[in-house]
Amino acid sequence: MENIDFKGRVAIVTGAGQGIGRMYALELGRRGAKVVVNDLGVSLAGAGSDDSAADKVVQEIVTAGGEAIANHDSVATMKGGQHIVQTALDTYGRVDILINNAGIVRDKSFMKMTEEDWDMVINVHLKGAFCVTQPAVLAMKENGYGRIVFTASTSGLYGNFGQTNYGAAKMGLVGIMNTLTLEVSKYDIKINTIAPTAWSRMTADIFPPEFEDKMNPQFNEPMALYLCSQENTVTGQIFTTGAGWYGRTAIVSGDGLCLGNAKRAISVEEIRDNFEKISDMENKREHESALGMFEYMGPLLS
Ligand code: NAI
Repeated sequence: MENIDFKGRVAIVTGAGQGIGRMYALELGRRGAKVVVNDLGVSLAGAGSDDSAADKVVQEIVTAGGEAIANHDSVATMKGGQHIVQTALDTYGRVDILINNAGIVRDKSFMKMTEEDWDMVINVHLKGAFCVTQPAVLAMKENGYGRIVFTASTSGLYGNFGQTNYGAAKMGLVGIMNTLTLEVSKYDIKINTIAPTAWSRMTADIFPPEFEDKMNPQFNEPMALYLCSQENTVTGQIFTTGAGWYGRTAIVSGDGLCLGNAKRAISVEEIRDNFEKISDMENKREHESALGMFEYMGPLLS
């Protein structure tokens, strides 16, 4: 089979000035994409700004023979998102690929979480994904083609102490994906989510030192790039990656149990007495949309 390349494709990677995003941008550039390297150059908690973060990665791509342009807007405002996409349109004439990767953390236990910690994290990850993805989707629709990747986290999918703000934002991205996939699939826009794990400034204080090499951010890049390739036909899926492990994560429902006849009221005791059957996950299934729930309730509704 032929190698995957991105010749003729225009890609935007947010937060690509370092860490995992930098790996995405470098490899997209190496494989022929014209890359908009976005990064505001903030601290881990979202303070300050530094243009050199994006500029250095552009330099690396260009030195390696690729094409790239820097953008220093924040993803967290509509104006910033529109300008990021406009940079791609003005410079390269189109947008084919968007990897929403920019991120910050402001970890605190829920009881100590401030409104500012909450708003800043939600704004960068969740609102930021809206602000960049909406103008990108409008541009992709024009060409009848697009590949979008959102960046979630196992902290949202499963929970992680001190990250209620971050976890909520990350699961919110799964919510955007689930519905946006339905809205844009007719334009050949495929949207998937990656939950990466890597040694970066975000995790350097959490992971043991020996993980530095083993958790190289590069290991997340091939999955994100495959999902961004024309060959990829899946949409609306979550992939978890790290250290060379790649797997799919899904939201599933068990068979559950129909109680009553949709006419008489159901009692609390009926829930208690049937709790094991209601909770059983042996025949777990995924659903393409919220309408999937009617499959279970069908016997009661017919
Ligand atoms: P990083 O801190 O090394 O890089 C994030 C980049 O985003 C920084 O260069 C920063 O300047 C940029 N950024 C932050 N706010 C921005 C804004 N408003 N506008 C534009 N750029 C902004 O982090 P890392 O580890 O590379 O993480 C990348 C993504 O992966 C993030 O979304 C993160 O939440 C996610 N992630 C990382 C994990 C890990 O193990 N490192 C685990 C799970 C998810």
